[in-house]
Amino acid sequence: MTTTVIRMADRPIWKSGVTLAIIAAICTSLVALTWQLTAERIETNEKEWLERNLQPVLAGLFFDSLITESMLTIPPPHDLPGSGTAIIYRVYAGEAPAAALFVVSARDGYAGPIRLLIGVAMDGTVTGVRVLEHRETPGLGDRIETAKSDWVLQFDGRSLENPELGKWAIKGDNGAFDQLTGASVTPRAIIKAIKKTLIYFETQGDAIFVAVAEENE
Ligand SMILES: Cc1cc2nc3c(=O)[nH]c(=O)nc-3n(C[C@H](O)[C@H](O)[C@H](O)COP(=O)(O)O)c2cc1C
Repeated sequence: MTTTVIRMADRPIWKSGVTLAIIAAICTSLVALTWQLTAERIETNEKEWLERNLQPVLAGLFFDSLITESMLTIPPPHDLPGSGTAIIYRVYAGEAPAAALFVVSARDGYAGPIRLLIGVAMDGTVTGVRVLEHRETPGLGDRIETAKSDWVLQFDGRSLENPELGKWAIKGDNGAFDQLTGASVTPRAIIKAIKKTLIYFETQGDAIFVAVAEENE
C-alpha cells in the first residue's frame, strides 16, 4: 500500500498563496457581515439610550415626537454658550413645536467646561437642566449632579422674566438662585450658560424651527 503525504514544500508557492488569499477573503467577509448585523442594533440602542436620557429635561411637557429625530448641529461661531459645536434637538407635539433641547458648554467651570442639557419650552420657560459631563471637584462643584443634590432643579419653570434678567445670579451676587456652599464658581458658570441659552432661544427660537421646515420641503 502506498501512502501519499502532501508536504507544503512539494506544492507550488502560488497554490499556497491562493489558499491564504481565500482564507483571508472568507475572514474579511465574516467580519464585514458581523459588523453589518450589529451596527444597526448598536445605533438603535444608542438612540434609545439618548431618548431615555433626554426625557428628564422635558418633565411636565406634552410631546409626541422622537427627540433624536430632529437634531440640529450649530458649528461655531454661534451665540450659544461654549466655543465648540452646539446641538439642538427640536421637540414636537403633532406638527407644532413644543420645545428645544440644547446641548451646550458652560465654559468657565472651576475645572473646565461643563456640558449641559437645557430644555426650553416654546414660551421661553426652562423645562429642565441636567449636567451631562463635568470635571468639578467631588464634594464641592459636583453637587450640580442630580445624583448628589437638587441644586440644578431650581431652574425648572424659570425664564428671562422669572427672575428678571439682572437677577440671573447666585444669591451671594444679589441674584435669585441658591448657591453651593464653598463652591460659587461652578454655579456662576451654569447660571450664565442657562441665561445665555434663554437669550438665544428668545432671539433665534423661530429660526430653529424654520430650519426644519426648510429641510422637509
Ligand atoms: C482643591 C479645590 C477644589 C475646588 N473645587 C471647586 C469646584 O469644583 N467648584 C467651585 O465652585 N469651587 C471650587 N473650589 C473653591 C473655589 O476656589 C472658590 O473658593 C469657591 O468657588 C468660592 O465660593 P464661595 O464664594 O461660596 O466661598 C475649590 C477649591 C479648592 C482648593
